[in-house]
Amino acid sequence: MSPAPRPEIAFRLRPASADDLPAIVELAVQMVVHSLSPYRDSTPEMVRVYRREDLRTLQDALQLDRARVLVAEAPDGSLLGHIVVLAGQIDSSTGEAQGWIFDVSVRHDCWGKGVGRTLVAAAEHFVAERGLSRIGLGVTSANQRAVRFYEELGYLEERKQMIKKL
Ligand SMILES: CC(C)(COP(=O)(O)OP(=O)(O)OC[C@H]1O[C@@H](n2cnc3c(N)ncnc32)[C@H](O)[C@@H]1OP(=O)(O)O)[C@@H](O)C(=O)NCCC(=O)NCCS
Repeated sequence: MSPAPRPEIAFRLRPASADDLPAIVELAVQMVVHSLSPYRDSTPEMVRVYRREDLRTLQDALQLDRARVLVAEAPDGSLLGHIVVLAGQIDSSTGEAQGWIFDVSVRHDCWGKGVGRTLVAAAEHFVAERGLSRIGLGVTSANQRAVRFYEELGYLEERKQMIKKL
């Protein structure tokens, strides 16, 4: 049986501007619950508050040559998703410089339509253009949709981060 055809969706990628930041932050804050670990005591509301605070430095990424914030924009100008990537993050075990994806988020009503895949491909291109041969990211194990998404795109599990409640 041939696979079901993918629903079409029109969008283009472009670098984010300062005007996009409020929408980027809103989407990232909305999506952070998917990265909530079952082994933590934080409630969804607590992680949303933390995420919003954490993203206050996103403005700095717009100024950095080695960072890229890209948005997926619909023909009507609405933002469907974004990715934040850094070229030159240092791997803690090997000291190797590599690319690192800090956040990729797609609006829930646009999931499964190739927006995430296209954002990751553009981030990989940005990192490769800067002469780096690897790109990594961290993902919460319980976020199985995201784990499968990355695996589909060729990402391999390299380390495990473990936690024990005392
Ligand atoms: C993870 C996320 C970015 C994926 O974005 P998306 O636009 O839905 O992904 P795509 O439609 O581009 O899917 C790309 C590929 O992933 C795979 N994939 C996606 N969802 C999948 C699922 N549930 N099961 C298996 N594979 C899946 C498919 O193989 C798909 O390949 P195709 O393009 O050939 O169909 C999106 O679901 C999201 O924003 N999640 C919440 C935020 C989040 O968890 N971000 C990651 C934090 S580390």
